[in-house]
Amino acid sequence: MAAVIALSTLAAQARSARFTIIPEPVQIEVAEADSFRIDRGMPVVVSSPDLMLTAKYLADYMDKYLGIPVSVSSDEDGFGAGVRMANLGNGGISGGYSLTVTPEKGVLIEGNDAAGVFYGMQTLIQMLPLRAGVIPLLPAVHIVDYPRFAYRGMHLDVVRHFFPVEFVKRYIDMLARHKLNYFHWHLTDDQAWRIEMKSHPELTAQGSEREGEIEGLYPGKYRALPYGGYYTQEQVREVVEYAAERHITVIPEIDIPGHCMAVLAVHPEFSTTPDEPKSCAKTWGIFNKFNNVLAPRPEVFAFLKDVFSELCDIFPGQYIHVGGDECAKRWWQESEDTQKFMRDNGLKDEKALQSHFIHYVQSVVNSKGKTLVGWDEVLEGGISEDCIIMNWRKPTYGAKAVKTGHRTISTSSGWSYFNMKESRNQTEIGPRGPLPLEKVYGYQAIPDSITDSQKELIWGVQGCLWTEYVPTTWKAEFSVFPRMSALAENAWSAEESKDWDNFVRKVEAQIERYELWGVRYSDAFFRTQDIERKR
Ligand code: ACM
Repeated sequence: MAAVIALSTLAAQARSARFTIIPEPVQIEVAEADSFRIDRGMPVVVSSPDLMLTAKYLADYMDKYLGIPVSVSSDEDGFGAGVRMANLGNGGISGGYSLTVTPEKGVLIEGNDAAGVFYGMQTLIQMLPLRAGVIPLLPAVHIVDYPRFAYRGMHLDVVRHFFPVEFVKRYIDMLARHKLNYFHWHLTDDQAWRIEMKSHPELTAQGSEREGEIEGLYPGKYRALPYGGYYTQEQVREVVEYAAERHITVIPEIDIPGHCMAVLAVHPEFSTTPDEPKSCAKTWGIFNKFNNVLAPRPEVFAFLKDVFSELCDIFPGQYIHVGGDECAKRWWQESEDTQKFMRDNGLKDEKALQSHFIHYVQSVVNSKGKTLVGWDEVLEGGISEDCIIMNWRKPTYGAKAVKTGHRTISTSSGWSYFNMKESRNQTEIGPRGPLPLEKVYGYQAIPDSITDSQKELIWGVQGCLWTEYVPTTWKAEFSVFPRMSALAENAWSAEESKDWDNFVRKVEAQIERYELWGVRYSDAFFRTQDIERKR
């Protein structure tokens, strides 16, 4: 009897080995039945108009990558076999879905909500052939799936290098293909301000361009090279809408009170050293050397009110990121006016002053009905519980955040910063690392040291791409793929469904998908591992 069970388990494993879905679904039950064959002109029907975009996404995909036209409709009358999508609206986990393939009816995707239907459709995409010209046969199967984490994010720094709208959309589309649902857009920093503000047009007019940058690794050699770019509000709205169609929320970041050289280049009077010359940063790093810190003056708080209020109006999502990282406090220590402000306001040290800034922005954002997000330094001087903490330093800071009652996003740099090179001898991207694929895959987003109720506060995980050493779109893709696929499995799949060997097998197929999609990727993993190619 045991032998029979073992054999049937093996057979089931062999059948499910035909699936290369990333992130791994909760449950794949392969049926003993014939496959369903997709024919040209196959109907794709939706049960409600809110799913039309998802149906069209599938149709566009099949046409563009596989050369198979299908017909999309919201009229279910006379539907025989094809793809049917339904939004159950059942109040189940957002993003959850089931996908069933039978030889008679074809594919049925039922989502707990519209996002669930969209993710079911993305799973279907990963069951399609990896290239055009192959007969699309779908094995009979029943998949039940839902996400582990509600927050599944990727970040992009568009300041150190600027990326055009077309690329930002492409990046967002790749997030969608990985079932990620938040795009964290890092829009301002020392080197530039890259979002148009109607209340302060001077920020982009003067602060979106730098005179040059360094060549090679920091400290490098300075090269005069005017470099600029920014997004108009119309473009930003276009990106937000594009993301929303893919069930992705955009979180904009304006980084204060440090990382503000671009603001100070435009408004030297906002600094603690207004008489010294200022410019957008021309090199990389954390600037103790250059003053990049806002001074606590009435006109600065008025400015913060203007820009964060406007940001809340432009972005319909619930979350606004205030930055708050790496503030060089020496500039506050050395400023008599700042020290007087601190005494007058009962602020005992510079951490308390940083906290004063963050609280101020939080009150602006809250008055607009939104929620603040900040890097983990915002905890230092104290911050109210409803600020979400993005843990980028060691995981111990994430543990501290949940212990003080904060909802927390895990993006600890040692596991999540894809600007780090992937293998020791990789020369194409940044100096730090290595951060190999296996390490990303093995990230423990939930620290062992916290209680069950604190675990509930880990809202999700995120990968980041800082772009000091990423000047081109191809390098951006090369940096994030395939590590984004490992992140996606951490974000979506239950710990029990994760399996490194299975992931390695699936990455081979994923790389064929990247080829199909025209996405650049790094093959560092395959060059550094002695793995047996099974196909
Ligand atoms: C960061 O990497 N400074 C958030």
